[in-house]
Amino acid sequence: MNDAQELNELIANANTLVDTETIDACMTKLADVLSREYQGKNPLCLVVMNGGLVFAGSLLPRLNFLLQVDYCHLSRYGNKTQGGELEWKVPPDKNIEGRHVLILDDIYDEGHTLAAVVERCQILGAQSIGIAVLVSKKHQRKIPLNADHMYCGFEVPDKFIFGFGLDYKGYFRNCNCIFELKEN
Ligand code: IMP
Ligand code: MG
Repeated sequence: MNDAQELNELIANANTLVDTETIDACMTKLADVLSREYQGKNPLCLVVMNGGLVFAGSLLPRLNFLLQVDYCHLSRYGNKTQGGELEWKVPPDKNIEGRHVLILDDIYDEGHTLAAVVERCQILGAQSIGIAVLVSKKHQRKIPLNADHMYCGFEVPDKFIFGFGLDYKGYFRNCNCIFELKEN
C-alpha cells in the first residue's frame, strides 16, 4: 500500500471527535481565562513545534494583552504512532530568564514532552511557568508536571487522535477538527 492509499484509508476510517465549532468555542473560553491570568504580566508564549502550531495560531489572536511569542522544537513520536525518544531540534532560548512563560502545545499525553520543556524553562530562570494544551488524554500513565498553572481545552479518550495540529506520520495537522480512529 502506498502512502496516499494508507492516508485515504485512515481518513475513511476516522470519526470526528471534536468538531470545528466546539474547538472554536473552547478557544474563546480558554482565551478569556488566560486573559484574566496573564493581563499585565507580559508573558513569553512558548510554542512547542510542530504540534502546538495550529493551537497557538488559533489562540494567540484571541489574547488581548501584551505578550511575546517564541518557539522551541521538541519531538517525541518522530514519524511513529508509539512514543519514542525525545529529541531537541530547537531548545528554548535564554530570553526566558525572569519571564512568565506560557507553554503552548497540542496535547498532554503522558507528559514527557511537556516535562522536558518545563525543566528547560526552570533551568533558564523563568519566573513562572504555565502550560496551555488543546487536549489532555484520559489515562493513568501521566507523569506530574512541575508547572504553576495548567490549562486544558478538552479531555479526550486514551486513543490515537489527529487533526488541528496533531499528526499521523506528519500528515493531517491542517485538519480543522480532531479525528479519532473508528473502533474495529
Ligand atoms: P507525551 O510526551 O507522552 O505527553 O507525548 C506528547 C507528544 O506526543 C505530543 O506533543 C504529540 O506530538 C504526540 N502525541 C501524543 N498522543 C498523540 C496522538 O494521539 N496523536 C498524535 N500525536 C500524539
Ligand atoms: Mg508535540
